[in-house]
Amino acid sequence: MSGGKVFDFRKGEPCAESETWELRQSVFFVGFMGAGKTSVARKLARRAGVSSVDMDTYIERKCDMKVKQIFAEVGEAGFRSIETDVLKEMVFGEPRLVSCGGGVVLADENRSLLREHGFVVYLKVTAAEAASRISDVSTRPLFGDIDQAERVIQGRLPLYEEVADICIDTNGRGTGSIAREAFKLLKDEGILWQPKL
Ligand code: S3P
Repeated sequence: MSGGKVFDFRKGEPCAESETWELRQSVFFVGFMGAGKTSVARKLARRAGVSSVDMDTYIERKCDMKVKQIFAEVGEAGFRSIETDVLKEMVFGEPRLVSCGGGVVLADENRSLLREHGFVVYLKVTAAEAASRISDVSTRPLFGDIDQAERVIQGRLPLYEEVADICIDTNGRGTGSIAREAFKLLKDEGILWQPKL
């Protein structure tokens, strides 16, 4: 998938912002809530001219309910089952950047799907930093307080590491800087590539 070229008439050349890149396979951003998965995937998608999708937003549109409501209606198990169905759609769909919900790594089936069919970028974050980035933690039913969040992060750490092809430490950084690092790493890995025009 590629974005169209935009010509910069002031410089007399195509805008660097509109470079045409392609994805060899879908890239999945995983990590705890507040790691920056959605913003980083969106920034990177704009930079590279490829498409991105946020799994939670996709689920909310599909169910016509907010994540919080889904948890209230069908519980965490019900949400996880929808999440697995959506992950299957993502791994077998056209290549794109996919920001996953923080708990996507909990199910064995999801981790197998990610390992076998995706390229996975793990965005690492501490609970304190995550809390400072999330404007309204009540939208995240499983966040709890900082101590609880840190325990969940530690518990999930081996699961994130199991699926990760690359890991980026996001602490103390803005999403622009993280997206630039992800762009470079994905280029180096050959996941983002430039077709000859
Ligand atoms: C969850 C993370 C949330 C959302 C749901 C459960 C989790 O997504 O999927 O509230 O278990 O960590 P974000 O990581 O995008 O906040």
